Amino acid sequence: MEKQEIRTFGRRHGKKLSARQQWLIDNVLPQILPTKANSNESTILEIGFGAGEHLRELAQTNPEKIVIGAEPFMNGVASLLSAIADENNSTRNEYKNIRIFADDVRDFLKNTDSKFEQIWVLHPDPWPKAKHEKRRLLSAPFLQTLADKLTTNGEIIIGTDHWEYFDWIIQELEKTTLKYTTPSLETIRTRYQKKNKAGTVAPKYLVIKN
Ligand SMILES: C[S@@+](CC[C@H](N)C(=O)[O-])C[C@H]1O[C@@H](n2cnc3c(N)ncnc32)[C@H](O)[C@@H]1O
Repeated sequence: MEKQEIRTFGRRHGKKLSARQQWLIDNVLPQILPTKANSNESTILEIGFGAGEHLRELAQTNPEKIVIGAEPFMNGVASLLSAIADENNSTRNEYKNIRIFADDVRDFLKNTDSKFEQIWVLHPDPWPKAKHEKRRLLSAPFLQTLADKLTTNGEIIIGTDHWEYFDWIIQELEKTTLKYTTPSLETIRTRYQKKNKAGTVAPKYLVIKN
């Protein structure tokens, strides 16, 4: 039997969805699932997009590319759908390139042939308690799995305001042969970033390549 993977996210469901949000999940989400056809297109992946502010920005600034978001928290998925659907419940023109996988990204990656030009992970759950460390998504094996899914010259971009997690990711990277830099980047302030639970002055960023 295949070993059950440890869960890296908190909740799948938060407060009860409005009737419209549930309608969007039942009717719009099925129309924008990633498909096999996307494997041949220029593609960007964002993991754990939360409410989707950064995913929307990616879609708008890369209109010629497919932008795939993976997020198991259904209230976040519903927030994104509300923001990208128009009054006819079709996706707005500027968001036609968005595809959503509303579940654990590891399940998506196991079943896709896509290679990604960029893989974004902004504010991954830090799991600060020592007993929860095993829930951290960005372990050495997973970083290698992501790197294997990059196009030539593709890159993984990680941002976190949890500096201890940042240092931990670097330690994990040191177990691999992946190359990385720690540049200063400007990204939009996501909902989680605004909360700044870690109380640090700014997020730190990592850019990883094969
Ligand atoms: C701390 S939140 C940050 C959300 C968003 N990126 C932001 O900055 O507002 C981390 C998100 O990662 C998602 N997540 C955790 N593990 C995941 C996984 N295995 N696959 C996809 N998303 C995951 C969680 O559901 C959560 O929404």
